[in-house]
Amino acid sequence: MLRRLHPEQPESFAFTPDNQKWAEAQIQKYPDGRAASAIIPLLWRAQEQEGWLSRPAIEHVAEMLGMAYIRALEVATFYFMFQLQPVGSVAHFQICGTTSCMIMGAEDLVSVCKKKIAAKAHQVSEDGKFSWEEVECLGACTNAPMAQIGKDYYEDLTPEGLEKMIDDMAKGEVPLPGPANGRYTSEPKGGLTALTEGDREHEYNGSVQLAHDIGDTLKRIDGTEVPFSAPWLDKAADHGSRQAGGPQTQREAAADAPATKPVADDSAAKPETDTTKPVATENKDEPVATEADKPATLDAARDGQADDLKLIKGVGPKLEEMLNGMGFYHFDQIAAWTDKELAWVDQNLEGFKGRASRDEWVSQAKQLASGEETEFAARAKKDGIYDN
Ligand code: FES
Repeated sequence: MLRRLHPEQPESFAFTPDNQKWAEAQIQKYPDGRAASAIIPLLWRAQEQEGWLSRPAIEHVAEMLGMAYIRALEVATFYFMFQLQPVGSVAHFQICGTTSCMIMGAEDLVSVCKKKIAAKAHQVSEDGKFSWEEVECLGACTNAPMAQIGKDYYEDLTPEGLEKMIDDMAKGEVPLPGPANGRYTSEPKGGLTALTEGDREHEYNGSVQLAHDIGDTLKRIDGTEVPFSAPWLDKAADHGSRQAGGPQTQREAAADAPATKPVADDSAAKPETDTTKPVATENKDEPVATEADKPATLDAARDGQADDLKLIKGVGPKLEEMLNGMGFYHFDQIAAWTDKELAWVDQNLEGFKGRASRDEWVSQAKQLASGEETEFAARAKKDGIYDN
C-alpha cells in the first residue's frame, strides 16, 4: 500500500507541555549523537496527541532530534502503526486480515466496518467517530480474528460482537479489550489441558487487567498520566552530575532537565564535563548569560550570501532559520562566540535550548570558517542530506 502524507495538513504542530516534558525526557535516555533513537516513541506520542501524524508533527519531531526531515518521514511512512491521515475521534479499527484471522472470519469483520463505519478503508465515518483499515498480522493469531484499536487488542471477535462494540463506543461506552469469547488468554477453547494447577491472580490477563483497572482502553495517551516517571534522570543525579542545590524528585528532575540540556544527556557517563558546560545551570531563575552577553549580529547576510549553516552538525532547516532570524548568517560569526555568548545563544534557542554547546557549534564553525571541512559537512554535501 502506498503510504503518503495527507493532502490537507495543519499549519503547525506543538507538543502539549506535558507531552513536551515527556518527549524531552525520552531523548535523554540516549547518548550524545544518538537522539534519533527516540524517533518512534516521539512520533507515537505525537500521534497519540493528535490522533494521526501530520507533516508538521513529523518535522517537529525531526527537529527535536536533530534529524533531516526525510529521515523522520522514512520512519513515519514505513510503519503501519503511524496514521498519515485523520482517523475517527473515538476509534480507528485495525482489522488483521492475515491468514489465521482471514480463515477465522476477518473478511466478515471488514464487512461490518464497511457497513457501520465507511465504505472504504481510511475514510472517517459520517459522525467523525470511527475509521478502519485492514492490516497485516498483529501477532495475536491464536485469538483470531482480532483487531487493534490504539494500544489495545480486541480478540476472538465475531461480526455481531464487533457491531455491538461499535454501537457501544458510539454511545460513549468503553469496551473491555482481550478475548471476547470468554477465554482468559489463548488457551484452548475447551479449557486448559496442561498447567492446570494454581489460581489466577487476576480476573483478566495482564494487559487486559491493566486496561480494565485504569478504564483507559480508548483514551489516547495525552501526557497527563501520573506519576510522570523518568528514573534515568534521577540516576544521573545519583552519579553526582548535578550541581549543588539539594535533592530533586523525579518530576522536578525531568522538569529541569529540558531547560538545561534538552537532548542526549550524557551526564551520568561524563559528570566532570557537564559541570563545566556554560548551559548546565540547575536554577532556571539564575541564567548564566544576560542580555549583555548577546553576540554581535547582522541585519542581513554579507553580500546577500549567507553560509549554509546546515553544514554544522545539529543545525537543521528550522534552526538555520532561527539563527538567521537572530542575526547569524556566517560561520565566522558563530566561530567567534565566547563562552558567555554561546550560553546566551543556548538560552535563546526556543525549543532547542542547549543545542549549540551540545553539538559544539563553535568548534565546527571555526573549522568551516577557515575553509576546512568537517566530517559531517563532507558527508552532508556528498549525500545531499543534512543529518546527524
Ligand atoms: S493472522 Fe491475525 S493476528 Fe496473526
